Amino acid sequence: MRGFRDIFAPQSDNFAELEGAARRVFALAGASEIRIPTVELKELFVKSTGDTTDIVQKEMYAFEDAGGRTLALRPEGTPGVVRAYIENNFAANSPVQKLFYIGNMFRAERPQAGRYREFEQIGLEYIGSAAPAADAETILILKDIVASFGVKNYSVKINSLGCPECRPAYKQELINYLKKDFDSLCDKCKERLERNPLRVLDCKIDGPRFVASAPKQKLCGACAEHFDEVKSLLDGRIEYAIDANLVRGLDYYTRTVFEFQAGDGAQNAIAGGGRYDSLVKSMGGPQMPAVGFAMGVERAIAARGEVAAKPQKKIFVISLDKTCNAKAFEVMYNLRAQGVISDGGLFDKNLKAQLKAADKAGAAFALLLGTDEMTKKVFTLRDFKTGTQKEIKFENIYTEVKTLI
Ligand code: HAM
Repeated sequence: MRGFRDIFAPQSDNFAELEGAARRVFALAGASEIRIPTVELKELFVKSTGDTTDIVQKEMYAFEDAGGRTLALRPEGTPGVVRAYIENNFAANSPVQKLFYIGNMFRAERPQAGRYREFEQIGLEYIGSAAPAADAETILILKDIVASFGVKNYSVKINSLGCPECRPAYKQELINYLKKDFDSLCDKCKERLERNPLRVLDCKIDGPRFVASAPKQKLCGACAEHFDEVKSLLDGRIEYAIDANLVRGLDYYTRTVFEFQAGDGAQNAIAGGGRYDSLVKSMGGPQMPAVGFAMGVERAIAARGEVAAKPQKKIFVISLDKTCNAKAFEVMYNLRAQGVISDGGLFDKNLKAQLKAADKAGAAFALLLGTDEMTKKVFTLRDFKTGTQKEIKFENIYTEVKTLI
């Protein structure tokens, strides 16, 4: 199916590597993992991601289940995490939560390079802190993941979208400005102009025409102070640029928004996020500030380049006779407890077939056990690279093999 993929080694090793890097950074920052369902009520996303967004308007995999409920595969993680936070009453018991997640998301977008219908996100939702330090920390956690994974050429853009105090005036100013050109707007922008004029600036068709000349957000005193502090906490810790046109495609953002970009293709955002101080309340929870990000795993891997992990050498255990099977199996299994990658066990096949399988499995060595070896209490070790063979005594097998890998 277009936009859906099977991912095998060595590509899958890159996913595991990035996930591992993220888990280490999250642990150091005191974040804990949350695992949320892949499916939620569709309404959850309509209410949170936003009904003016492309995601909700046309990209959701929504369906009715046997009970007549309308469900959707999650297009992003934030709504589910916030729902879980509210349902589990975190606000009353321990309101400050740094929750990270690693999981697949689904968006019915037109597939192209870097854009899939099922893709993986690594995200963090830092709920319960209104402090500018939380914005800065969130951005720096993302930077640490990206850097420790080895992405080099990326840039960071940040902006502030203001708050319910200062945004409405700006929104109106923008509507008035864009209305003058109403007839020339694309159908989608015509429709969303009144509800979310910022999205016009983000539109691929209309955005470029207006973005430079459109009025800019004037932050209220509190938002300006907040943004200044975020910037000063970032200064010297990360290179970033202020981009007054950074809007982001989701409805729930307030104040700080940011994006990490790599390359100059259309799908250049490797991660994005921002503050969403009104979302918890609008979803039925208490007033609770929050900030978070999500990284596109496929895009981060593409930005770094796929690096084949240097695998540990593999041993392939071969038995040449029924009477040798038990001993060969014992060694194959016990080598793993010694931290050695051991494969094999295809004892119903002849020598040629087992050697071929060893080659296919990428083994560096074969351990052969036949009746002669059983009598002498040795294994024959074949080194595929040099083509040489030597005998290893039964009692020395584990210590000797460990020196080879
Ligand atoms: P988003 O910008 O929609 O934000 O997605 C975050 C990242 O997911 C993007 O920067 C991109 O790397 C990746 N991504 C999105 N769509 C696709 C796709 N079709 N194929 C491949 N990668 C994709 C969010 O999802 C928010 N939940 C972020 C957030 C968390 N804001 C606050 N907390």
